[in-house]
Amino acid sequence: MEPIILVHGGAGNIRDWRVLPKIEGVKTAAKVAYEILEKGGNALDAVEQAVRILEDDESMNAGRGSVLNEDGEVAMDACIMDGQTLDAGSVAVVKDIAHPITLARLVMEKTPHTFLAGHGANRFAKENGMKILSPGSLVTKDALYALEYFKKHGGIQGDCGDIENPGEVGTVGAVAIDCRGHVAAATSTGGLNGKMEGRVGDTPQIGGGTYADDETGAASATGHGESIMKFCVTHSIITAIRNNLDPQEATDSVLNRMTEKLKQTAGAISISKTGDIGIGMTTKRMPWAYRKGNTLFYGIEQGKQHSEVLVE
Ligand code: GLY
Ligand code: GLY
Repeated sequence: MEPIILVHGGAGNIRDWRVLPKIEGVKTAAKVAYEILEKGGNALDAVEQAVRILEDDESMNAGRGSVLNEDGEVAMDACIMDGQTLDAGSVAVVKDIAHPITLARLVMEKTPHTFLAGHGANRFAKENGMKILSPGSLVTKDALYALEYFKKHGGIQGDCGDIENPGEVGTVGAVAIDCRGHVAAATSTGGLNGKMEGRVGDTPQIGGGTYADDETGAASATGHGESIMKFCVTHSIITAIRNNLDPQEATDSVLNRMTEKLKQTAGAISISKTGDIGIGMTTKRMPWAYRKGNTLFYGIEQGKQHSEVLVE
């Protein structure tokens, strides 16, 4: 089976000055994580690696660069899911750690549970040797400005469609299939700009923002979390693929139905067990990139795709 990794850097009305850094970010994540698959590594390791790279990227709403809650803090959600076993790990409202996606994987592999939140999740991170950063370490100048803007102007939070909102920086996610045909998905986010303390989005909700099942495929969503979770967007996409839609049709039809019914926007990526992919958005933009063999495909505008051949 030819391996593929597909990543996204958040759907929204992304403003022009953010376009280039976001494209560079998703290209790098797809390129680097593909090396794991190329060497025969597994899909789970590849999606975790891709998301770790994006969590370090300040132009994304995950890890450092996350948007802030109403108290001016970074509070992050993440989920990873292994399509081979349906094992999953989620964390919510975690603070002061650089890589929530790795914490989610630890929850999956080292606890009898699937989902840890808040203080308990942070304590578990510390007990497992993850570095606890000093408070405020993940807060960027852009995030502070975005919160100030939100508090002054209100409006739609996060990256769900307010063109003026500087808080729209984008959840990150990845789906992959490895050479043995196993799929995995991972998603990580700082959530919505100005959210209430304790708010949890779609990202860590299995079947909301993240889903993977070898029998069908894997998906990761981004956008207005309150809508994505009510519509079970990733599980709906996987169900549509199971009902014989190709991943592109499945992704488009679920997102369009969600936007029609709930009047909010989102984006998603998906991959089927046959290695076909879907990339969809009801927002103006969503940066994405995937690598297949030595070609890197990428884009950010609806319906537009670019490619480059990588020379070793
Ligand atoms: N900040 C919401 C999202 O990217 O999904
Ligand atoms: N889609 C990310 C969030 O709403 O938190």
